[in-house]
Amino acid sequence: MKATVIAPSNIAFIKYWGKRDEKLRLPANGSISMNLSNLTTITTVEFNSKLHQDDIIVDGLKEVKQVERIIEHLNRVRKLAKTKVYAKVFSENNFPQSTGLSSSASGFAALTLAAVSALGLKLSEKELTILSRQASGSACRSIPDGFVEWLAGTDNSDSYAHSLYPPEFWDIVDIVAIVGNVKKTVATTQGQKYALTSPFFETRLKNLPERISEFKKFLKEKNFSKFGGIIEREALEMHAIILTSVPPVLYWLPETVLLMLQVRKWRNQGLEVYFSINTGHDLHLLCQEKHKDTLFKLIKKLDIVQNVIINKPAIGARLTNQHLF
Ligand code: DP6
Repeated sequence: MKATVIAPSNIAFIKYWGKRDEKLRLPANGSISMNLSNLTTITTVEFNSKLHQDDIIVDGLKEVKQVERIIEHLNRVRKLAKTKVYAKVFSENNFPQSTGLSSSASGFAALTLAAVSALGLKLSEKELTILSRQASGSACRSIPDGFVEWLAGTDNSDSYAHSLYPPEFWDIVDIVAIVGNVKKTVATTQGQKYALTSPFFETRLKNLPERISEFKKFLKEKNFSKFGGIIEREALEMHAIILTSVPPVLYWLPETVLLMLQVRKWRNQGLEVYFSINTGHDLHLLCQEKHKDTLFKLIKKLDIVQNVIINKPAIGARLTNQHLF
């Protein structure tokens, strides 16, 4: 049987950085994110007993570097379904990969739901998040709708993601400002392994439970100023860990820093905008819907910004009949 899924990428407001268990991808801490309407992956999976190996094409290419990770994940799903049949997998991202826009989140969320559905397995949303987490941690947050929390848990069965609020809960906007097109030199999975070597990592872990409960309160109250303050500090703190790990990693470009400073200038002038950033050089600029057009025009005027992608809060992974083959 064939199944096709569209899944969104997500932006973490409280970051997942550092694992307690590498193999199971159990995170050192819980995290909270929002699904992004305009950064998506569409994936079609078909299991076919005539195939002699998995046939995988991502963004039109056969030689993809994630191929082993994709096969490993197909094996997890095959094991659940007690089958050895190979699969044909076609996947397309509507945004660049390996530049820090979290294509592994949307990609592995889409692959999980498509593979499970193609084999006729009936899994709950919670089980789907547990399964996709094992392929890429952040992928578990792209399964449920809207604003999503991933509970760190203590073992495989209780480290899962659930929706805190549906997308229509809050009409905030995430404008991704693309400031470069170089691929990152240190993959996120590798960078995560270094996290525990930062002398500041333990302090971060100690402070996180309080930050998470404050953040959930501000999210519930839709207090944009307090919400924004936390997401910006959180993004900078994750990079403080990244910069002080052994070996240290620097994901930013000069343009990244210029844009961060510009965001502060806009705020001082009364425009409420806050940034977040993942393991790359592009910034996510968050504002309220009422400021979207003003912010968009200001960003478009900047020479350092090559492109922008406007996102609203979005639903999670969904089946579709727009099959890619
Ligand atoms: C900076 O989920 O890509 O985007 O589990 O090794 O695949 P793996 O890591 P990944 O890490 C995401 C890191 C981040 C922060 C976040 O999304 O929470």
